[in-house]
Amino acid sequence: MKESFGHLPTGEECFLYTISCGAVTACVTDCGASLVKLLVPDSRGRLDDIVLGYDSCEGYLSGDGYIGGTIGRSANRIKGSGFVLGGKTYSMTPNEGPNNLHSGPDSYNTRLWKLISHTGDAVTLELRSPDGDQGFPGNALIRVTYRLDASGALHLIYDAVSDRDTVFNLTNHSYFNLAGHRRTDRAMDQLLSLPGRFFTPADAQGIPTGEKRSVEGTPMDFRTPKPIGRDIAEDYEPLHLQGGYDHNWEVFCNPCAQLSDPESGRTMSVSTDCPGIQFYAGNFLNADGKEGVHYGKRSGIALETQFYPDSIHHPEWPQPITGAGTQYHTETVYRFTW
Ligand code: BGC
Repeated sequence: MKESFGHLPTGEECFLYTISCGAVTACVTDCGASLVKLLVPDSRGRLDDIVLGYDSCEGYLSGDGYIGGTIGRSANRIKGSGFVLGGKTYSMTPNEGPNNLHSGPDSYNTRLWKLISHTGDAVTLELRSPDGDQGFPGNALIRVTYRLDASGALHLIYDAVSDRDTVFNLTNHSYFNLAGHRRTDRAMDQLLSLPGRFFTPADAQGIPTGEKRSVEGTPMDFRTPKPIGRDIAEDYEPLHLQGGYDHNWEVFCNPCAQLSDPESGRTMSVSTDCPGIQFYAGNFLNADGKEGVHYGKRSGIALETQFYPDSIHHPEWPQPITGAGTQYHTETVYRFTW
């Protein structure tokens, strides 16, 4: 199914594409290649929409909270809004103090993507990002595919190529609430597990210090599932600095995250070939979303698979660099049980 999703200020129309397989249905818009709805049954077979979203493209254009959007060319922060690649310095627009968050004000999640294909269970969208776009080198062709498989798992597949060496670090910024997006008070009760043994602490501006710190004995230890809200107010510096959980964990094994809501019986696991996962507890969420629901602080959580934040300045970490003419390909899978 394809339906109108409003108009851009340029007059161009945006669309909402529905895909289904098994018991799961997803809706994706070409505005920001954003995931708008994700309908998953609960243990009694009742469907609920478990991602935060907006009713039309206007909300996505505001970019508030980056809700559901495809983030690129480089997700998360780049210190000083610049980097050196191949001996050349590249500058980006600072949009958080002196630093760059999610590639700056003209981020991919607010652009109109082109539809490449839409079948019953998959949709592929494409973005052309010219040389110098957001400050990055190389004319880039980027595709994201959302595909549901027979088990109802949602695959997010990213493919990109550039004619110059460049940075590719694409992710999706969906916020999940397995109780349903309306149950804004319920997100912090859900159980999260993150098998990662270390996380990367950041300074007050969210820039990693370079340390890889063990989670052992800290509120960051999610190796055994626990309610997200249990330790979030603990007296622990990394939590103070970021206003709650907003950190990168190593992807130690797959699934690299599992979320469950005992009341609805829904669980979601995340698997990826990316080296890191940013767990953001929605500490600064403040958006008027779908169906008149206001999404306040911590009404959903993001689990963003990606290279480590600011990894371009940490050569000791996996590098988000793709050579000219080389295919960038990553895949993240959200699997559900109920
Ligand atoms: C970052 C947060 C930021 C949020 C914006 C997340 O990916 O980790 O620090 O506030 O995006 O919505």
